[in-house]
Amino acid sequence: MTVDETSRKLAARILDWYEAMGVDAALDEAPADWLARGDRAPGADFTLAATKLQDVPPAPASAHGQSTQENRPPDPPKPRRHFPAKAAPAANANARGAVSHARTLADLEGMLQRFEGCGLKATAKNQCFYRGAEKARLMIIGEAPGRDEDLEGKPFVGRAGMLLDKMLAAIELGESDVHITNIVYWRPPGNRTPTPQEALACRPFLERQVTLVAPEIILAVGGAAAKQMFDVTDGIMRIRGKWRTLNIGGYEARAIATLHPAYLLRTPAAKGMAWRDLLTIKNALKARQ
Ligand code: URA
Repeated sequence: MTVDETSRKLAARILDWYEAMGVDAALDEAPADWLARGDRAPGADFTLAATKLQDVPPAPASAHGQSTQENRPPDPPKPRRHFPAKAAPAANANARGAVSHARTLADLEGMLQRFEGCGLKATAKNQCFYRGAEKARLMIIGEAPGRDEDLEGKPFVGRAGMLLDKMLAAIELGESDVHITNIVYWRPPGNRTPTPQEALACRPFLERQVTLVAPEIILAVGGAAAKQMFDVTDGIMRIRGKWRTLNIGGYEARAIATLHPAYLLRTPAAKGMAWRDLLTIKNALKARQ
């Protein structure tokens, strides 16, 4: 075997190992040396900068890890203070006060960019705030950004998002009629379900977002979003298709859950249930026109 063949085989084995460890996309031109940060897990050491959200200047455009100078080696990760999961309630409380000053979605997005209270930000490439209309009668809340969303910086743009768009089109709604977001704004590593602490840390932003969008109806898609929004522990099959009233910081909206489009892609036989939920929403929107 030549040296070239040996290196190729070795490189292929390293890539296999990366894949087995959950690395499914190259996000940067230059590699980040995560080992240089010692034995801390990514996201385990975030600051609680949320305490001073209004005072912190906006993050520079290159803050999401894109090197502005070609051929410059990446800066080693900066040491940050420890961010244990139990700090989420403090991050939530601090952010709650700050977000009340957000008058527009753009204000809120800026605050989110400066928020350091959710560990998911450490490993995500981009923040995924929302897509669709600023004000909408229907607000759709999913679980978390996945790989495609992380790369594009927008919720529901991958395969599940395409199916969601088709589902909405089936009830005569387009992107400009709805506001689409998630219970967390950054991709969880390996597409795992966000932890309750991560959802809790993001919750003040989501609540403020709801009041700014002012939807008549909130649609939670999938079990994780439904449990988090409705504060219930039942499975999605029990939760879906039933109207509830949500009171979010004094703002009241009707809410309903349906099956997640990613689940429908894997289980097409369940599409009938989602279709019934969509018709329920269509009728409710029509009744109030
Ligand atoms: N699944 C979600 O729940 N949200 C997204 O943004 C993408 C996939």
